[in-house]
Amino acid sequence: EPVRLKDYRVPDHLIDKVDLDVKLRATATQVTARLSIKPNPKGRPDTPLVLDGDGLAARRITLDGVDLDLASGFVTPSQLTLTSPPQRPFILEIETELDPTANTRLMGLYRTGHAYCTQCEAEGFRRITYFLDRPDVLSVYTTRIEAEVSEAPALLSNGNKIAEGKIDGTSRHFAVWSDPFPKPCYLFALVGGDLGSIHDEFVTRSGRRVALGIYVEHGKEAFATYAMDALKRSMAWDETAFGREYDLDVFNIVAVSDFNMGAMENKGLNVFNDKYVLASPATATDADYAHIEAVIAHEYFHNWTGNRITCRDWFQLCLKEGLTVFRDHEFSSDMRSRAVHRIADVRTLRAQQFPEDAGPLAHNVRPDAYLEINNFYTATIYEKGAEIIRMLKVLIGDEAFAKGMDLYFERFDGTAATIEDFISCFAESAQRDLTQFSRWYNQSGTPLVSVTAVYDPAARTFTLDLSQSSKPTPGQPTKEPFVIPVELGLVAGEHGDLKLRAGEEDGASGVELGRGIIELTTPRRRIVFRDVPVRPSPSLFRGFSAPVRVEYDWSESDLVTLVAHDSDSFNRWQAAQTFATRLLLRSVEAVRAGGAPAYEPNFIDALRIVTETSADPAFTAQVLTLPGEADIAREIGQDVDPDAIHVARKALRAAIGHDLSQPLLAAYARLEDKGPYSPDAAAAGRRSLRNVALDLLVSGEIPEGVRLAAAQFASASTMTDEIAALGALSQAASAERETALESFYQNHAGDALVIDKWFALQAMIAEPGALARVKKLTAHPAFSLANPNRVRSLIGAFAAGNQTQFNAPDGSGYDFVADAVLELDRKNPQVAARLLAAFRSWRSLESVRRGQAESALRRVAGSPGLSPDVRDIVERSLA
Ligand code: ARG
Ligand code: ZN
Repeated sequence: EPVRLKDYRVPDHLIDKVDLDVKLRATATQVTARLSIKPNPKGRPDTPLVLDGDGLAARRITLDGVDLDLASGFVTPSQLTLTSPPQRPFILEIETELDPTANTRLMGLYRTGHAYCTQCEAEGFRRITYFLDRPDVLSVYTTRIEAEVSEAPALLSNGNKIAEGKIDGTSRHFAVWSDPFPKPCYLFALVGGDLGSIHDEFVTRSGRRVALGIYVEHGKEAFATYAMDALKRSMAWDETAFGREYDLDVFNIVAVSDFNMGAMENKGLNVFNDKYVLASPATATDADYAHIEAVIAHEYFHNWTGNRITCRDWFQLCLKEGLTVFRDHEFSSDMRSRAVHRIADVRTLRAQQFPEDAGPLAHNVRPDAYLEINNFYTATIYEKGAEIIRMLKVLIGDEAFAKGMDLYFERFDGTAATIEDFISCFAESAQRDLTQFSRWYNQSGTPLVSVTAVYDPAARTFTLDLSQSSKPTPGQPTKEPFVIPVELGLVAGEHGDLKLRAGEEDGASGVELGRGIIELTTPRRRIVFRDVPVRPSPSLFRGFSAPVRVEYDWSESDLVTLVAHDSDSFNRWQAAQTFATRLLLRSVEAVRAGGAPAYEPNFIDALRIVTETSADPAFTAQVLTLPGEADIAREIGQDVDPDAIHVARKALRAAIGHDLSQPLLAAYARLEDKGPYSPDAAAAGRRSLRNVALDLLVSGEIPEGVRLAAAQFASASTMTDEIAALGALSQAASAERETALESFYQNHAGDALVIDKWFALQAMIAEPGALARVKKLTAHPAFSLANPNRVRSLIGAFAAGNQTQFNAPDGSGYDFVADAVLELDRKNPQVAARLLAAFRSWRSLESVRRGQAESALRRVAGSPGLSPDVRDIVERSLA
C-alpha cells in the first residue's frame, strides 16, 4: 500500500526527549532508549501509540518504570503498539539488541572499516530503536556511547560533548553528547571508531568559536585538508550569502568507506562517503575536488535548510534537497566560474533528470504517493527541485527572492514545514500569486517549448510565437500550463544584442522587456518586436532560465552567430550543442540507413573560432565536448539504436580532432601546468581544455596526439592528467592500452577510490568484450559487492556509462545487470534498486533491445523475495 500525501495527519503523540544509551559491541550492541512521550494536543485523543521498528529485537520494555510483558504480543520486529497509552506524559524505556556487523543494508547502525556508524535518513532510526520515525516528530537528544577504548577511541554524536571517561575496572570508556536543537530522528547519528582526525576552528560573525573536526581512516589525515578548507569557506559563505550562522560549538565530519549515498547532514555530525572527503593531487581529479567542495557545502548548508527547518513529511523532501542543491550550486558558482558552472549543472540535469522525467519512473518534484521513500532520492527531487528555485528567483528578481528566504528562515525556524509554507514566503515578498508556479512541484515531465519566428524587413518587426506542451507521464494524462520564464535576447551578428522594443498590444510589457524575461504562462503567446533593423538570431532561455526542452528551427548561420556573438555564454555553449545535436541526429539516420556519418565544415569552423579566440579554457573545453550518447538517445526519443549513435558521435569527434589538430595541439602546448598544483578553477580549467584536446587528437588519430597521450600518462603528476591520458589511450583496443591499465593498477593498488576510477574506465570501454572484462573484474580481489562505491564504479558505470554494451542487442548487458541487482538485493536493497534504475529509458529503444530489456525486467519482477525497494522500481518500470 503506498503512502499518500493526501492522507497526512499530525502525529497523535509527540516525543519531547530522547535519552539514548548505546553500548557498542561488534555483534551485540545494546541500545537503551528512554523516550519522553506525550499525547499531541493537536492530535486525536485516546489513540493507540504505534512505534516503528525494522528488524528489531526487544530485550526489555518499561512504562514509567514498570516492566511490560514482551510475550504479550504488543511488540514485533517491526512495531511496538500500546493500545491504550497513558493520556498524560509518560516514559517508555526500550532496550534493543543489534548486530551492526550483520547490517549489510548500511541503514541504521553498521560497521565500516574501523568504525561503527549510523545512517538514519530516511527510515533507518527504526533499525536502532522503536520510534515515531517521521520527520514531524522533533525531540531533544542526549546520547551516551560506550565502547572498548582500543576498538573505538573516538566516540561522536550530535551536538556538544558534555561528559566522557573511563569505566572503572574495564577496558571500556564512554562519552555523552547533548544536542539542544529539537530534531527528527532521521538527523540522529553516532560514530565510534579508531580514526585519525584533523582539527580547525571557525569563528562565526557573531563571535561563536566552532571547533571543527574531520575524522578519517588513520594515515589519510592529509587527504582531508581540502575538505576542511571547503567547510570553512562554506560557513563563511552562508553568513554573507544567506545570513545563516552556525549554531553549535562543534561541527564534525566523519568519512567512511561504505556508504549508500554521497553524505548525510546529521546535526553537528555529518557522515560522508569518503569519496567526497579525501583528496590529493595524485589521487583525485579536478572534478573530484569540485565534488568535494560541493558536497561539503551541501551538507553544511542543510544545517539551516533541512535541520533548523525540516520537512513535515517525506513528500516534502525537495523542500530541503532542492533548496540545498540550489544553495550549493550558488556557492560553487561563487567559488568558481559561474558561467562554466551553469553549463556543468545543466549537463547534469539533462543527463540525469530529463531521462527520468521522460520515462516510466517520472514523478513530481513533490510526489503524491510512494511505496519506498528511498527510491525518491532522485535527480528530479534534487536537481529539478533546485532548478525550480532558481527559476523562482529569475521570475521574482533577486531582491524579492532574498526577502522571501529571510521570511522563510524567520517564520519556520524550528518547524517541520511544507512546500506551501516555503512558497508563501515568496508570494508575500514578491506580492505575487504563485499558485500557477506551484504546478512545477505537482506535475511531472519536461515541458517542451516550441518557438517560431518571422522577420518582416518592411515593417521591421520580428514576431515570436511561443507555445508550451507537456506529454503525459505516469498517472498524469494531461497537464495544466506552467509558468515559464524565457530569458531572451535578439542577437544581430557581431553587433550583439538589439534593444528589445514592443508594446502591450504587441504582447510584451515594458517590465518584461526591461529585464529581458518573457513569461509564458498560457499554452501559447505571441510577441511582436518593433524597430528590428535586421533579421536577428534569437537567443532563447539564456542561462537555461527554465528546465524545459526547446524547439526552434535555427538556421546554421544563426547557430554560428550565437556561438560567436551571444552575450550569454551559456547560450554560446548551447548553440554549439544544438548544432552538434542536429548534426549527430542526421548522422545517426545516415548510419542506420547504411551510409556514412554526416560532416559539416561550418560546425567545425564554429568550434575552431572558439578554440582560437576564447580566453576561458574551461569554457572552451565545454564547447568542445559533444553531447553524450545518452543525450543523443534522449533527443531521438524513440526507436533508439545505441550502436548507430556511438558510430555517429565517434566519427564527429574524429573529425574535430583531425580538422582542428593545429589549434588543439597549440592549446595543449600553451596550457601546460607550470609551478605547483592548485585545485582552483582557473588551473582546473586549463587542465580540462588540455585533456579535452588530447582526447580529440587521439580520436582524430593524430600521431602527435597519441604520442602526447602516452607521454602524459607516463609522466603525469596529477590524477586529472593521469586518468585523462589513460582514457584517451583506452579509446581503441591495443596492447599499449592493456599495459597502461595494468601499470595504473600497480601504481594505485590499495587506494580504493583510485581503483574505482580504474574499474569505471574499463566498464565504459565501448567495445564488444567490455562485458566479459566487467564480469572478470567482478572476481578481482579489489572488487566487492558489499561496498557501494565498488558496485557503482564497476556495474553502475557499465549500466549507465556504456550505452552500446549495456544495450547489446543480444540482451547480455541487461542480463548481467539484472543478475547483479538480484544478488545485491539480498544484501543492500537500496543500492540494488538504484542500479536497476539504469533501465529507466528502456521503452525508447528499438524493438529488439526493447524486447530484451523487457524480458530482463520481467525476470527481475518474477524473482522471489524481492525487497520493496527493487519491487517498486521494477513494477513502475514495467507499468
Ligand atoms: N540527505 C542526504 C543528502 O544530503 C541524503 C541521504 C539519503 N539517504 C538515503 N538513505 N536515501 O542529500
Ligand atoms: Zn541533501
